[in-house]
Amino acid sequence: MDRLLITGGRKLEGTLAISGAKNAALPLIAATLLTGDTLELRNVPELADVVSMMRLVQRLGVASTYLPGEPGRVAFHCQELLSTTAPYDLVRKMRASVLVLGPLLARGGEAIVSMPGGCAIGTRPIDLHLSGMERLGAIIELSQGYVTARAPAGGLKGARIELTQPSVGATENLLMAAATAKGTTTIIGAAREPEIVDLALLLSSMGAAIEGAGTSTITIEGVAQLHGAVHSIMPDRIEAGTYVMAAGITGGRLHITGGDLGLLGGAREKLEEAGLQFTDTADGFAVSVASEGLRGTDVMTRPYPGFPTDLQAQFMALMCNAEGASMITETIFENRFMHVPELARMGAQITIHGGSALVRGQGARGTTLRGAPVMATDLRASVSLVLAALAAEGETEINRIYHLDRGYEHLEQKLQAVGACVERIP
Ligand code: EPU
Repeated sequence: MDRLLITGGRKLEGTLAISGAKNAALPLIAATLLTGDTLELRNVPELADVVSMMRLVQRLGVASTYLPGEPGRVAFHCQELLSTTAPYDLVRKMRASVLVLGPLLARGGEAIVSMPGGCAIGTRPIDLHLSGMERLGAIIELSQGYVTARAPAGGLKGARIELTQPSVGATENLLMAAATAKGTTTIIGAAREPEIVDLALLLSSMGAAIEGAGTSTITIEGVAQLHGAVHSIMPDRIEAGTYVMAAGITGGRLHITGGDLGLLGGAREKLEEAGLQFTDTADGFAVSVASEGLRGTDVMTRPYPGFPTDLQAQFMALMCNAEGASMITETIFENRFMHVPELARMGAQITIHGGSALVRGQGARGTTLRGAPVMATDLRASVSLVLAALAAEGETEINRIYHLDRGYEHLEQKLQAVGACVERIP
C-alpha cells in the first residue's frame, strides 16, 4: 500500500487548479444508464471512486471511451441494459453505487442492488431512497442483503415525496427515477447541494423537465424519453475548500483556479471568521491569512448551504493552528471524528464531547503539530492529516492513502507545484 511522506513547515504559494467534483461525477455517471444515446461528460476527474462507478455502469451495459482533445472528456453509450444487478463486491467498495437504483428502475423496470451496509463514518441507511421509490409505485423487497425494486406494469408514476431529512443521494436517485415517470413528481425537503443542481442540469439537457433544483422543493414533469447530451462537470467545492485550508494552515497564499467561491456556501463565512481572506480573480479566487492570524472559530456541520460535513475534518486541522479554542460539532454523520486520535498523535489538543470536539489551538505560540506516523481512515479524515502534516514540524508518514486517491485528483502533484514537500512511497 502506498504511503505519503510530508515534511511540514513550508508556506504554500502559487496557483492550484480545481478538478471536476467527485460527488457530481458519481451521480452523472449513474445517469448514463438512462438513455440509449451517447452522453459526453467533460471535466471527469481521475479518481478511484470514478473508476469504480465506471466499472459498475459498464457491468450494467454502458460502454465508455475517453475522447481526445482534453483530459476528462468521456463518451458514454448504453445501447441496452445488460443487467439490472449492482453486486455486493462493487457496492461494498463505494456506497455511491446505490445511485444506479433510480436509473435502473426507470430504464429497466427493475433494480437489484446490494444493501450498502455501514461505513467508516456512520451507519448511513438508504430508507429514504427506498420509501421514495415506493411512492413512485415501485415494489421493494429486501432479501439476502439485496434490495429488489420493481416498477409497476406501465412504469413508475409521479408522486409527492417528502424527505424527512435532506439526503443528497436520495434526492439524486429520485430525480433520476422521476425524470421519465408518468406525471408530476414533487420532492419536498430535497437536499440543496450544488451537485444536485449539476445533475438536474445534465438531466434537463437530456430532455427532462425539472424545476427548483437547488431549493428544497423540486418538481419533475415526467417525459417519455431522455436523449444524449454534452455536459461539463462542476468544480469540486470540497477540494477547493480543502486547498483553501491548506493555504491557511501553512500561512501561505494560493490562487485557486477553476473553483467557484460561491460554491463554498456558508463555509466561506466561517473561513473568514477563522481569519482567511478571499479576493476574486479573473479565473477563480485568491486566499491567504489576514494579518491578525487564524482565530478559534466554532462550526456546526449542516446540509448545504451550511458548513459541509465533508470539510469538518480539514477545519479541525486548521483550528489546531489557530489562536484560542474552537468547538466543532458534527450533525450529519455519527462517526466522523476518526481523525481526532490521529491528529492527537501529531500533538493536537482535542477532546471529544458527544457530537462535538473541542480544539485548543496553539496559534500565537507557534504550531505544536509535530510529524508522526499516522493512519488514514476515510477520505476527508485522511486529507485533514495531510493538512496537519503540511504545517507540522518534521516528517509525517501517512499510511493507507488509497482513501485519498478516492477523492483528490493528483493530490501530491498539486501540492508539490505550490511548494509542499510531499512524496509518495509505493
Ligand atoms: N440518511 C438517512 N436515510 C437515507 C439517506 C440518508 O437516514 O436513506 C441520513 C444519513 O445517514 C446522513 C444524512 O441522512 O445522516 C445525510 O446523508 P446523505 O444521504 O445526504 O449522504 P450521501 O448522499 O450518502 C453525500 C456525499 C457525502 C457527503 C454527504 C453529505 C456523495 C457520493 N456523497 O452522501 O460525501 O458527506 O452527501 O453532504 O455525494 C465524501 O465525499 O467524503 C462524502 C462522504
